Amino acid sequence: MCRIIAHRGSSGTHPENTMSAFEEARRAGADGIELDVHLTKDQKLVVIHDEWVNRTTNGQGYIQDLTFNEINQLDAGSWFSEAFQGEKIPELSDVLSWSVNHPMILNIELKNIFIDYPGIEKLVTQEVKRFGLEDQVILSSFNHVSLKKLSQQDIKLAMLYTAKLVDPWLYAEYLGVSGLHPGMHSIDVQMVKKAKDAGVDVRIYTVNEEKDMVRWFKAGCTAIITDFPEKARQVRYKV
Ligand code: G3P
Ligand code: CA
Repeated sequence: MCRIIAHRGSSGTHPENTMSAFEEARRAGADGIELDVHLTKDQKLVVIHDEWVNRTTNGQGYIQDLTFNEINQLDAGSWFSEAFQGEKIPELSDVLSWSVNHPMILNIELKNIFIDYPGIEKLVTQEVKRFGLEDQVILSSFNHVSLKKLSQQDIKLAMLYTAKLVDPWLYAEYLGVSGLHPGMHSIDVQMVKKAKDAGVDVRIYTVNEEKDMVRWFKAGCTAIITDFPEKARQVRYKV
């Protein structure tokens, strides 16, 4: 069965990458959550999408220039709705600790595309192992150099991409990753089948419209990554 992974949590209904968005994904019956991680000035792993805090909090500045203590003062909920005032930017360890009691797929995206964050690969894998979550976690990144560095670890890896690649399952094998995470315009139904036949998982993002959900469910992909896990469950039930 094609799995449903909630993109940044249930980010269509709750403020993205917050504990309330992850809780809502669990309540809605998602099979997993996707989340983004960056490194603060004092080397703490925090869960937020952008390189800076401006869009999704009441603060300003790049995460790499802020300490965790500064980040922890910010309101990450009000920008979405006043109903979520006081939501915090989680530390990765908050999500991992929550996940121990709520087992589901945890797709952790290393957001080291525009900013390098030296050593982020080791810090993330140490945290995953500290909580014993190796079997639940998929690490993904658009930074394929980073994925290559991670390929010696016993944690599932997946390559994110938005270009149209030739035979991406061969490239996945070269990188040492077991999954493709394409933007949905970078893949087609035949390619899903070829990748699956080659033993490579395919999790497609960001699938929000019912017609696209139906198409990818029918294509037999491993998972869809969606902002609307509750709606996706209803659609999957009908397909
Ligand atoms: O992991 C899929 C998706 O999250 C990648 O794009 O920009 O939403 O992090 P973005
Ligand atoms: Ca992401």
